[in-house]
Amino acid sequence: MKIIKKGDKKVVGIISKKKILQDALYRVSGFVYPFAEKGVYLLRNTLSGQVASLTEKEWDAFQRLTAEPKDSSFLEENGLTELACLCFIVESDHSEAEQYRQVSDILNIMLSKKPGLKTYTILPTTCCNARCVYCYEESIRQVTMSKETADRLIDYICETRCEDEITLSWFGGEPLLAHKTISYVCQMLKDRDVPFRSKMVTNASLLTKEVAHTAKELWNLKKVQVSLDGMPSDYEERKRYRQPEKHNHETVIRSIHYLADEGININLRINFDRNNISGIKEYLAFLRKEFADNENVSAYLGILFQEKHTDQYLELYRKVFELSRYMREIGLPQGSKDKKQAGFKINYCMADSMDSSIVIDPQGKLYNCEHLPENRTWGSIFDGCTDTELYENLKQPADIDEKCRECTFLPYCTPFYKNGCPGWFEHCRDYMEIKTFYALGNIASTIKTQ
Ligand SMILES: C[S@@+](CC[C@H](N)C(=O)[O-])C[C@H]1O[C@@H](n2cnc3c(N)ncnc32)[C@H](O)[C@@H]1O
Ligand code: SF4
Ligand code: SF4
Repeated sequence: MKIIKKGDKKVVGIISKKKILQDALYRVSGFVYPFAEKGVYLLRNTLSGQVASLTEKEWDAFQRLTAEPKDSSFLEENGLTELACLCFIVESDHSEAEQYRQVSDILNIMLSKKPGLKTYTILPTTCCNARCVYCYEESIRQVTMSKETADRLIDYICETRCEDEITLSWFGGEPLLAHKTISYVCQMLKDRDVPFRSKMVTNASLLTKEVAHTAKELWNLKKVQVSLDGMPSDYEERKRYRQPEKHNHETVIRSIHYLADEGININLRINFDRNNISGIKEYLAFLRKEFADNENVSAYLGILFQEKHTDQYLELYRKVFELSRYMREIGLPQGSKDKKQAGFKINYCMADSMDSSIVIDPQGKLYNCEHLPENRTWGSIFDGCTDTELYENLKQPADIDEKCRECTFLPYCTPFYKNGCPGWFEHCRDYMEIKTFYALGNIASTIKTQ
């Protein structure tokens, strides 16, 4: 047995044992995902993130252990003791859900954060110069932040921030429609010596060379996610810009170059569903050629939420993983958010990180999620917390759902994903399974070529 991926050092430290109990019965942990392909035998521990590579003989013994619990002498005779010390194999009365909770509690204590907010997700406007056919904000009220709200926002940030550098995450609507507000807020924070950096999610169509420069110098913009939709014909059909002669695929590609020239990190999110997936391979090749020499540009494929509730969803996801392989082959860097999911997660996203993160809409209303879920604002930058019950409810750690207690992928998800996230979808486990299968397939292919 060889550990070929080290996993999360802290988690490994918490769960590892020096020796195993002689009089106990052992079984395979529910947090183990096994993988076998063409003579390569792998086990991923979803709790620690470690990947173990087994010999054929060890794999056979592991299969026998999967069929029924065995005693410690079986582990010793078959070279599986180290796997038990690393919790790939556990005592038969072991509770995975309990172990998950313990690891989570210990990590929370170890990583206890300083007081104050670290990340402010700000929507300077909910208006947009596009009308994407799929946009989940289609029916949202269109409002732009007033000068009075921007002024109060600056004070609010100064009153609530942590002492370290804070992150301003600009979101919308289309945040670049309000680039003057962004500049104003950033200038005021600079004048008050608030250390900050920015990131942004944008369609990038309104970006000029000058704005890109301001973004670098004044906004301290480090990372941008630009939303794309495939080849120009697909892009323009889906984006439905209000002024397509001014805002179109060509202008967006030019804008991406402006950002890249400023040394800003750009992640291209390519939205797809079953209607444009057939053109995505060609588009990836186009992007590779267009940004060949630019190490600041990466891309990832984002499935549209509407597809998550259809029967074709898993089929589409298989195609995504094939396309990810293609990206690797052609050398287009991948900037997937999913990378984070390869290890233990304490928080799922901003929404269950309310101690450090907050979302502020153009009117100054406060949320825990950038999707501004209806009826989920608990206050405003003007009045502070006005609905304590809702706030406490949202802040409460979610219970582990019955379905998740038995699930191999709980450490990737956090209980919040099932119990509080509007993005949760029913095929979660199948999806995690495919994702893990492809990830291990990639590792296996590197072992074979070594
Ligand atoms: C609402 S937009 C706001 C920022 C900006 N206007 C943009 O398009 O990047 C935020 C992100 O949500 C994505 N998005 C919008 N509707 C979606 C949907 N139905 N499914 C998945 N992603 C969606 C967009 O592509 C974008 O990446
Ligand atoms: S550009 Fe962004 S906010 Fe505008 S319609 Fe498209 S997804 Fe929605
Ligand atoms: S949300 Fe789904 S994938 Fe995640 S732990 Fe629960 S059942 Fe498993």
